[in-house]
Amino acid sequence: MDKFVIEGGKRLKGDIYVSGAKNSVVALLPATLLLDVPCVIENVPDISDVEICLTILRELGASVEKLREGTYRISTLDVTSTEVPAELARKMRASYYFLGALLGRSHRAVAAMPGGCNLGERPIDQHLLAFEALGAETTLIKKIDNDGTAYIDAVELKAEHLYGSNISLNVVSVGATMNAILAAVKAEGITVIENCAREPHIVDLANFLNYMGAHISGAGTHKITIEGTPVLLGNDALEGSVEERIYSVVPDQIEAGTFMVAAAATRGDVLIHGVIPHHMKDIAERLQECGVTVEEVESADRQEVCIRVSVSENRRLHPTNIKTEPYPGFPTDMQPQMAALLCIVDGQSNISEQVWEDRFRYVAELRRMGAHINTTHDGAIIFGVPGLHGARVKACDLRAGAAMIIAGLAAEGTTEITDIYHIERGYSHIVDKLRGIGADMKWISE
Ligand code: EPZ
Repeated sequence: MDKFVIEGGKRLKGDIYVSGAKNSVVALLPATLLLDVPCVIENVPDISDVEICLTILRELGASVEKLREGTYRISTLDVTSTEVPAELARKMRASYYFLGALLGRSHRAVAAMPGGCNLGERPIDQHLLAFEALGAETTLIKKIDNDGTAYIDAVELKAEHLYGSNISLNVVSVGATMNAILAAVKAEGITVIENCAREPHIVDLANFLNYMGAHISGAGTHKITIEGTPVLLGNDALEGSVEERIYSVVPDQIEAGTFMVAAAATRGDVLIHGVIPHHMKDIAERLQECGVTVEEVESADRQEVCIRVSVSENRRLHPTNIKTEPYPGFPTDMQPQMAALLCIVDGQSNISEQVWEDRFRYVAELRRMGAHINTTHDGAIIFGVPGLHGARVKACDLRAGAAMIIAGLAAEGTTEITDIYHIERGYSHIVDKLRGIGADMKWISE
């Protein structure tokens, strides 16, 4: 089993580069099924969730060509299958985007219930509500487990025709908003999705599809309107050009936030490149409340605005309170990382988790490193301690794993993190990137 070994207590210092967003690319890749021309996608992160998406595309019959690191040419013109291989669908949460994309393309889709991080109950009722509103018939394929309990194993969607419709989501859901867009983009007529999620990856999906010829407006607000388009040829292609469209995945807000918190926790001085500063506003504000300096600065070549996070070496940091909310609120996907930092500030911080029912499994791991944390039914109270010590801990899920890395970087002594396959799902070249700014961190294969 592979593990990360970190010798903590090193101040992170230097320049670090953010990759394309995991939660965007895992929707963009299925979205290529809706295109009537090949396309090129760049800034694709090197993570295992992308590998799974690309494998699913190939299994469905798509041609996927790696042009260079992080850049793929994808043609889905020859895809005929409408069934996502079950073992691949179960490996990741975002496999549910193949349901929306295949339904939009072929009016039929079958996929096993998705896997992904265990954060408590993760229903998909809002996705099904959207598909049904557009005219799909949904069938839940049930199986019986060893205890004799029935469970939903897979979903089948079928539609004679997809019609634009009004979809009012009962819950603000990233996945349901994305899936509603994917299924509606080629439906006949106008679709209006209300109570949408507004995350940067939703805007990115809409930008990508619009770039390829779709008519989606309002992404990034609570209401998205889609005028159905029967073919997506890319705008240049429509004008007679033979050039393929190249789309670059939006920078990963959560990876950038993870680097910001790692810099703060090690009393470092780090310049984060390839970030969109306004996506980071709430994270930056919480760090500033702790006494961390967060500034927008121009890169040396003046080509981009970066974020610099710095803390002077002996400065003690203050506590803060966090309530996770859909964007533009504080992201639940940054909650464990921020908790790792709050373990080593002076005083008491409160965390309220409003998105997932079970996102505190990492607390037991941080306690092994000397953290003082009490959990409540939907939150945690963190009593800051002067410092953490290295220990053997596990990555309970992706962001919990990122929290272990931050804690290990800040702690005195050696931290070993196991179950790192969770971290590989979402962080591209994390060891090399952190070593590049001074972390003493190794990836050990056993
Ligand atoms: C996405 O999950 C992300 N995953 C998650 O990132 C992230 O934590 C989450 O959005 C919130 O930002 C991907 O993008 C692949 P939701 P998703 O639908 O779409 C409830 C990470 O670490 N809900 O926005 O599955 C649900 O139970 C991962 O990168 C329903 O009730 O999340 C939750 O309480 C983990 N019915 C809330 O909505 C539904 O049909 C938000 O979930 C769907 C969701």
